[in-house]
Amino acid sequence: PGHLVSAADLSRDDAVLILDTAEEMARVADRPIKKLPTLRGRTVVNLFFEDSTRTRISFEAAAKRLSADVINFSAKGSSVSKGESLKDTALTLEAMGADAVVIRHHDSGAPHRLATSGWIGGSVVNAGDGTHEHPTQALLDAFTMRRHLAGAPDGGPTHHRGPGDGTGRDLEGRRITVVGDILHSRVARSNVHLLTTLGAEVTLVAPPTLVPVGSERWPCEISYDLDAVLPKSDAVMMLRVQRERMNAAFFPTEREYSRRYGLDADRMARMPDHAVVMHPGPMNRGMEITAEVADSGRCTAVEQVANGVSIRMAVLYLLLGGAEPAVTGAADPAP
Ligand code: CP
Repeated sequence: PGHLVSAADLSRDDAVLILDTAEEMARVADRPIKKLPTLRGRTVVNLFFEDSTRTRISFEAAAKRLSADVINFSAKGSSVSKGESLKDTALTLEAMGADAVVIRHHDSGAPHRLATSGWIGGSVVNAGDGTHEHPTQALLDAFTMRRHLAGAPDGGPTHHRGPGDGTGRDLEGRRITVVGDILHSRVARSNVHLLTTLGAEVTLVAPPTLVPVGSERWPCEISYDLDAVLPKSDAVMMLRVQRERMNAAFFPTEREYSRRYGLDADRMARMPDHAVVMHPGPMNRGMEITAEVADSGRCTAVEQVANGVSIRMAVLYLLLGGAEPAVTGAADPAP
């Protein structure tokens, strides 16, 4: 089976196919009955070892809109608390016939291990692993940017704009700024990979203590001056400061952080008129983003969540093989 473990594994064609399929899936949400029969008889397991609101719920909504059966597993309250290993948990899910396992895990590399171990036979989808990657988040971010930036002023006549054009050039030359706790951010890593694959130019902005060692080799710019970068940005993605992963010694005071790296209305006014403010959630209001900016019409955070359902529908649809195997089962024999 296919897997989605890392945005770095996606070619430009793969990424464009997922984004275009998600556009088709978004139309299902506009119907009176928001369901397709495509994955009837398939089982999707949400295997969450770390907390989540958006990702878990949107994978569940996506699977249900495709008529799959969904099993939600949360490590809290499971036999993981008695010391059960990832292997034995995976073998248990395999015994229940999982066609796809959507995994969030605190260890970077856990989805890769699951995909290559042979413990399960189905597809593995990374829903966020440690500080490594969160590929479906990057895909929903790119989908959101593509929709907003289509038709916005751009760098020249060679840039075709518009979602679903199939050329993969929708984000070409777009300047995307990602701000905040890059050190702990799987969202930043996945976005750097995906956005550069799609031809965008990415700038990371962070205090020096929150820039990962080795990121100077990433295909992006690194800046410590948010005010200088904002006027040149088509989208500004604010990241949550992940205090739960942080050694206090790395962190400036909250006040100092928000003064230098937080987005407030004055700073937002420095952005071009067409530029959007993004946030993957959950937000620390008052820290990396003020409530005024978070609740403004330029902030796409809630729209990103809705787009996440379309992206996850597209990923499940493409990985689990589309219509034929699901709709021609025992209940619907071939003539
Ligand atoms: N953006 C994101 O991954 O949010 P959750 O942690 O709530 O899933």
